[in-house]
Amino acid sequence: MVRSANILLIADGCCPSLIIYNDPFAQYYLPFSFSRIFCWSEGLSSMRILYSILSSIIATFFISAYAAPPRNLDLVQRGDLPAWIQGEVDNPSFFIKKDKEAFCESQYLMLSCSASSNRISAKQLRNVKLGERLPVGGQNNFAVYSLKGYGYGLRFRSSNLIMKVFNTVNNAAIGEAKALNAVGDLVASGTVKALGSKPAIIMRKKPGQPLYETQAYKAAREIVREKMRNQTYGLMCNEISTVATKTYVLHDDNNPANILVTMDGNAVKSVALVDYGPPQTYFVSKSVTKADVSKYCGCEYPSSKRYVWEHEFPYVTPPPRT
Ligand SMILES: *[C@@H]1O[C@H](CO)[C@@H](O)[C@H](O)[C@H]1NC(C)=O
Repeated sequence: MVRSANILLIADGCCPSLIIYNDPFAQYYLPFSFSRIFCWSEGLSSMRILYSILSSIIATFFISAYAAPPRNLDLVQRGDLPAWIQGEVDNPSFFIKKDKEAFCESQYLMLSCSASSNRISAKQLRNVKLGERLPVGGQNNFAVYSLKGYGYGLRFRSSNLIMKVFNTVNNAAIGEAKALNAVGDLVASGTVKALGSKPAIIMRKKPGQPLYETQAYKAAREIVREKMRNQTYGLMCNEISTVATKTYVLHDDNNPANILVTMDGNAVKSVALVDYGPPQTYFVSKSVTKADVSKYCGCEYPSSKRYVWEHEFPYVTPPPRT
């Protein structure tokens, strides 16, 4: 890590090079003065070319020596995770060039970009018509917005879209965009000028609402609610294992707010999974089976995982008597 970060120094800020495959975030943890040492030549084009050639040669050497993607993701806190879970979606060893460009255009082939960097141009999301700011929180989120439209000629129907805005471009934002893209929910990513060029993702809006917010659930007696939770868990398990075996993304952050349901009377008709950001969103091995996921999620009835999900969330509380 230190070694590759040091190499990146040469490229950081001034010198186009092939070092793009190294950690793009080195600029955040390396002392500023270090990167300046190598950047005194900014503006001198002949020196830039010289640096470019030099660093390309050095980079080629180090890439072949050190850049083989680690398969044992020791950055992940594995705990009791089964072997088919490869790692959290924000683990940078999953990222390829395209992933790192989610919010920035690469200039000079450099990918150490952040929306605020003046050396890298932000990849602007054009024709974004902001709707209202939605009351959704999150660790890395700046905000979530509904949209009144997006794209040239506002080609996407606003009712089908939602936009999540991040504070900064980091591994979590890149990982979430990558996971959303894998599951087919990503519409676009980039920065939003109207929001101070903050990075954002536009995604498909999923139908439904959390079970505990539906009229049917609110109005039901506890015995009926129990059945609804049970149905939700079964459908959720099915959806998680389908998504995992088709797209190799495991949605493991299954708190009830992230599971949207549509109802047909008192029956839970369908579920949709939202929030593919870390933590608890994983890339999984291509050899994963539905049985693996089902076992991991405690999908069988009864199971302790299932019991906890169905009984320990606040929405279990009965409605106030009227
Ligand atoms: C919950 O669902 C399972 C099947 O998923 C079923 O076997 C069980 O009887 C249900 N329990 C209740 C209380 O509805």
